[in-house]
Amino acid sequence: MQSLYTNGFENIYDDMYQTFIDYEKEFQFYSEIILKQQKKDVLEIGCGSGRLASHFINSPIHYSGMDLSNEMVELSRSKNPEGTFYNGNMTGFNLNNRYDSIIITARTTSYLLNNIAIQKAIKNISNHLNDNGVLCFDFIDASRFFPSIKNGKTVIHEATINDKNYSRISYMKPNVIKENFMFQWNAKYYQTINGEQTLLTEDQSEVRAFTKNEWELFLNLNDFKIIEMIDRKSYAFDTYVVVAQKQ
Ligand SMILES: C[S@@+](CC[C@H](N)C(=O)[O-])C[C@H]1O[C@@H](n2cnc3c(N)ncnc32)[C@H](O)[C@@H]1O
Repeated sequence: MQSLYTNGFENIYDDMYQTFIDYEKEFQFYSEIILKQQKKDVLEIGCGSGRLASHFINSPIHYSGMDLSNEMVELSRSKNPEGTFYNGNMTGFNLNNRYDSIIITARTTSYLLNNIAIQKAIKNISNHLNDNGVLCFDFIDASRFFPSIKNGKTVIHEATINDKNYSRISYMKPNVIKENFMFQWNAKYYQTINGEQTLLTEDQSEVRAFTKNEWELFLNLNDFKIIEMIDRKSYAFDTYVVVAQKQ
């Protein structure tokens, strides 16, 4: 099954998501957190097509990005030739560097599907943070989101950009037989060309939502102190943003 992150579909991601996410606001939000903690550089894990990168690169905060998808990394590089981007998996990476802060935005933590992956990711992140370094990430809040999809829910998102009309029809339903708060997210992506709707690709993913308590415990067990948990509604999900400090 094709995701939007590879094989040319990363361009569709790039087109559509700039209408879902206000990257200027996203930059203001995360840069304020980083500056408030008096941090000077940042590694963004899951940098996608490099839209948040562009804002950071033009700011005083020194930026590096990393993504699992090589196509996303190439797209980020092509849009930000002066930027530093790496291909890597958050559950196992070694950049031979340490950072003041690490961010994971746009609910990329939903791809940490089991507890082993979470443990590995937190360990890798910790190894890449300076003393008292700050980790900041968002997650889909299962406590509020699951009741809204408990019987299955279809949601349509439209995106019009550069005279192109896209739509995404999503069907989401909790997968309650799994040990964690998993949900099925089946999405069909269409483009309307000359009035005709054409299917571009289909993505059937199982992704993970979390409760606040789960993250509190994962972070505590890995010697991170939670500084803040910010309730922040995102375009489609009930979301919390966690700010935590390496102890
Ligand atoms: C929802 S997109 C968010 C992209 C970007 N942060 C943005 O705001 O547009 C999720 C990104 O995380 C990447 N990703 C997924 N699993 C990953 C992993 N294990 N390690 C690193 N990146 C990952 C995907 O390739 C994709 O580019």
